[in-house]
Amino acid sequence: MRPVERIGVLTSGGDAPGMNAAIRAVVRKGIYHGLDVIGIRRGYLGLLKKEFVRFTLGSVGDIIQRGGTILHTARCEEFKTPEGQAQGAANLKEEGIEGLVVIGGDGSLRGALALARFGIPVVGVPATIDNDLPGTDYTIGFDTAVNTVVEAINKIRDTATSHERTFVIEVMGRHAGHIALYAGLAGGAESILVPEIPYDIDEIIFKLERGLNRGKSHSIIIVAEGAGSGLEIGQEIRRRTGLETRITILGHLQRGGTPTALDRILASRLGAKAIDLLMSGETKKMVGVVNGEVVVSDLEEVLQKKRELNREMWELAGILAI
Ligand code: ADP
Ligand code: F6P
Repeated sequence: MRPVERIGVLTSGGDAPGMNAAIRAVVRKGIYHGLDVIGIRRGYLGLLKKEFVRFTLGSVGDIIQRGGTILHTARCEEFKTPEGQAQGAANLKEEGIEGLVVIGGDGSLRGALALARFGIPVVGVPATIDNDLPGTDYTIGFDTAVNTVVEAINKIRDTATSHERTFVIEVMGRHAGHIALYAGLAGGAESILVPEIPYDIDEIIFKLERGLNRGKSHSIIIVAEGAGSGLEIGQEIRRRTGLETRITILGHLQRGGTPTALDRILASRLGAKAIDLLMSGETKKMVGVVNGEVVVSDLEEVLQKKRELNREMWELAGILAI
């Protein structure tokens, strides 16, 4: 007897490009090993409402290149309560689901851990554009989001240069600055404001004026949403310097779009590994990639730690934007 014959998979929290590639890997690898794979629609909300669908090989065809998630996703307050979690576990047991793959971010993986406490074997697959989870160098969706932001910076740079303007671009990331840092470095931003490192508006203005004095007539400042409001920072810069300043809030266009090859590969590897773990009777694990290799972490430990920002990279971005 194998530890699992019938498993479930759900996507939860903010959608991230590559979630579909992860679903595809879970379904195809599961069916390859003869498992029954059940999709749960709308994350934990759908779990509470028993929204189960049986996957076939064909039902995940033509999705590897699509952003979003074919299973839909949701945020569900009820599932944060012990009663909601007990109900979720009971619904899984009633459906004969003996193990669950949860594809999502920090909150979603906390939900998975809660289910494990009610006796459901779980494996987490980190998928969020924010890249705010330890235990993996990259979360699924981060690379695509960074590329989307860099593309936006490139376009805005054309206008910044032509009109000799200062641009403040606010990017997502929730409480983390990884998107801002990676996109800022790749996009050649003059300043990168992240929540992990306190910033001084005087210093930003000093840098702007120093640039201006040596003939630099345009600048790009990236603000992670967790570091402050791009609108307020832009208005302050305009008020104090008199520079023609424009503000762009990129918003949800950072969440969608066709996943990059890196995200598809990451999602394929991690989704497949999640199946291996459930088939070996493992639980409370998170899969990730470290230095190019697929690794397995203890989910409880991952969720106790905080993901650090790469300070060396942040300092380098500052030096290169001198
Ligand atoms: P993400 O997974 O992208 O971080 P959220 O933080 O919004 O997104 O979490 C997604 C869902 O996961 C929540 O709506 C809730 O249903 C569930 N969840 C979040 N935190 C917890 C928690 N501490 N315990 C149980 N479930 C949680
Ligand atoms: O976690 C992904 C994310 O896009 C964050 O970067 C952002 O803070 C949040 O979700 C936005 O959530 P919503 O789509 O509910 O506005």
